[in-house]
Amino acid sequence: MAAAMGVPRAARRVLRGRACNVLIPLLCPQRFSSTTFKASDLQIEMTKDPKPKPDPAKLVFGKAFTDHMLAVEWSKEKGWGKPHIKPFQNLSLHPALSGLHYSVQLFEGMKAFRGQDKCIRLFRPTMNMDRMLRSALRCCLPSFDKSELLECIRQLIHLDRDWVPDRDSTSLYIRPTFIGTEPSLGVSTSNHALLYVILSPVGPYFTTGSFNPVSLLADARFVRAWVGGVGDFKLGGNYGPTIYVQNEASKEGCQQVLWLYGDDHQITEVGTMNIFVFWKNQQGDLELVTPPLNGIILPGVIRQSLLDLAQKWGEFKVSERIITMGDLIKGLEENRVKEMFGSGTACVVCPVNRILYQGKNYHIPTMENGPEIAKRFLKELTDIQYGHVASDWILKV
Ligand SMILES: *Cc1c(COP(=O)(O)O)cnc(C)c1O
Ligand SMILES: *[C@@H]1O[C@H](CO)[C@@H](O)[C@H](O)[C@H]1NC(C)=O
Repeated sequence: MAAAMGVPRAARRVLRGRACNVLIPLLCPQRFSSTTFKASDLQIEMTKDPKPKPDPAKLVFGKAFTDHMLAVEWSKEKGWGKPHIKPFQNLSLHPALSGLHYSVQLFEGMKAFRGQDKCIRLFRPTMNMDRMLRSALRCCLPSFDKSELLECIRQLIHLDRDWVPDRDSTSLYIRPTFIGTEPSLGVSTSNHALLYVILSPVGPYFTTGSFNPVSLLADARFVRAWVGGVGDFKLGGNYGPTIYVQNEASKEGCQQVLWLYGDDHQITEVGTMNIFVFWKNQQGDLELVTPPLNGIILPGVIRQSLLDLAQKWGEFKVSERIITMGDLIKGLEENRVKEMFGSGTACVVCPVNRILYQGKNYHIPTMENGPEIAKRFLKELTDIQYGHVASDWILKV
């Protein structure tokens, strides 16, 4: 009966008076497949042997996982299956899987925070759901209802709530993943897919109280994303090839990669973070600048949040526009650059103190300047995330 609710009126007319439940799947499979899974259908299987929780003082990013995971299967014939919360376990995969051969794969990264009031909070999670659905459609993976997925994730976190650490600056990292599970080698739309979510308790990005600035290698021979490409989606295929470049940076004594684009060496992103410059621009205005969402920039949740906060403060110009290495170097030479920092879920903000570019080291005076703006962003956002300040950016678990 529930399936018939979604049947187009014309089809219902044709089927009237027949044994619909038998005929529907035979007549036209994809028309009747469900267009989303529902949190109200969640099947929960609890683990029989809960794992010991890691020492919250020694958490290493992405190494420990909680007791349970969320998994939902989809196929072209049957549509979405019921969402399952089950013990954290290995996947069994076909060797021809499209997710492995052609990177029909995408992910998200978000965090749950435990406040002093013991409440667990998610920060702007609908933005991650929006981005995940965009990524899915770009990979020709099936659509789903974003609020149903978020509700499933909320219930998963609630079940594993004792895994959300409560030491200062710790959190539970949430990794939604969506893969094509087509078991054949043709490069075409997957008829099978698996969406799953795993959780990992993580420690502070910065060791207590102090911002550790990072040094960057800016080498225009390497390009992360390009116009017409998929750099603005969180597809796994965007990240694997960057490891080589990251290793080049390490060899040059730099901690991260500053990704450049185009003949004019536009500054685009840093590592897996968005980038911000706070400076006095050429017109002499105090300005916070980040590159525009022109297809080569990942639309970060923290990026948008910093822009929103700065707009609300209304104390200086806030711009989304292209900045080149030439603009930056001129600003450095004229002592106009105050702060430069990356932004992302992992660190919120991460100050930059040096850029190696064309064989020359450029000192960025971020730390000498406080960093006033970076610190203020960090405080305002963490106050919201840990519930010191009420905000409509929060969803309580
Ligand atoms: C995930 C990511 C970011 C940061 O996004 P947030 O939603 O703020 O965590 C920035 N750049 C790249 C390339 C990313 O993959
Ligand atoms: C899961 O996979 C890992 C590594 O591939 C392996 O070490 C582990 O034993 C597997 N677990 C089970 C229960 O099979």
